[in-house]
Amino acid sequence: MGRRRFITLEGGEGAGKSTQIRLLAQRLSEAGHRVVTTREPGGAPGAEAIRELLVTGETGRWAPKTEALLHFAAREEHLAWTVRPALERGDWVISDRFVDSTMAYQGVAQKLGAEFINELKALVVGDDMPALTLILDLAPETGLARAGRRAGGEDRYERMDKAFHRTLRQAFLDIAKNDPQRCVVIDAEKDEAAVAEAIWTAVRGHLDPDRH
Ligand code: TMP
Repeated sequence: MGRRRFITLEGGEGAGKSTQIRLLAQRLSEAGHRVVTTREPGGAPGAEAIRELLVTGETGRWAPKTEALLHFAAREEHLAWTVRPALERGDWVISDRFVDSTMAYQGVAQKLGAEFINELKALVVGDDMPALTLILDLAPETGLARAGRRAGGEDRYERMDKAFHRTLRQAFLDIAKNDPQRCVVIDAEKDEAAVAEAIWTAVRGHLDPDRH
């Protein structure tokens, strides 16, 4: 079932997740909810240090299993210091990426396989799954063009090849298809306001506690 007040946004590069998280957090706050926004890899001091190892440098710098383990190490820090304490306080938590990214990027695109990721997921995440995941879907060409306009050296994954990014898109759509109770696919080709409306419609339906 997952944690009702835990929402994650997922998708490929340049889908506009950070803008949408800002808009969603604003709307939830206006509706009277306390909201924590966070991100992966990152969201806690140790996790941000691990992030640096993952998002910079040569594309092939890690053996695939090391890379998945680093994402899960960062995730455990994030859960322990940020996500679980916030949920225990009764706050809403909106995370820019979570374990579906590891399944799509490391499990599928980097070919580690679902079993490896699912075993780590059971050990690290356990029952602390989001009850709602918004998958922002767009053509990788559109996303990479948008992401390319951003500054900074955190582009290790963006530098992976086109086939990698096409595989990712399908991987996220498959995750949504296999878990329709939790996942809602949002068309992220639309403009910012239209995407925000689609997200708000999904979240509003989810706010009603009688649904759970
Ligand atoms: P961001 O650009 O959305 O902040 O995410 C950083 C990068 O990390 C992004 O390219 C996706 C990648 N990533 C993984 O490969 N596996 C994961 O488990 C997570 C959380 C992110």
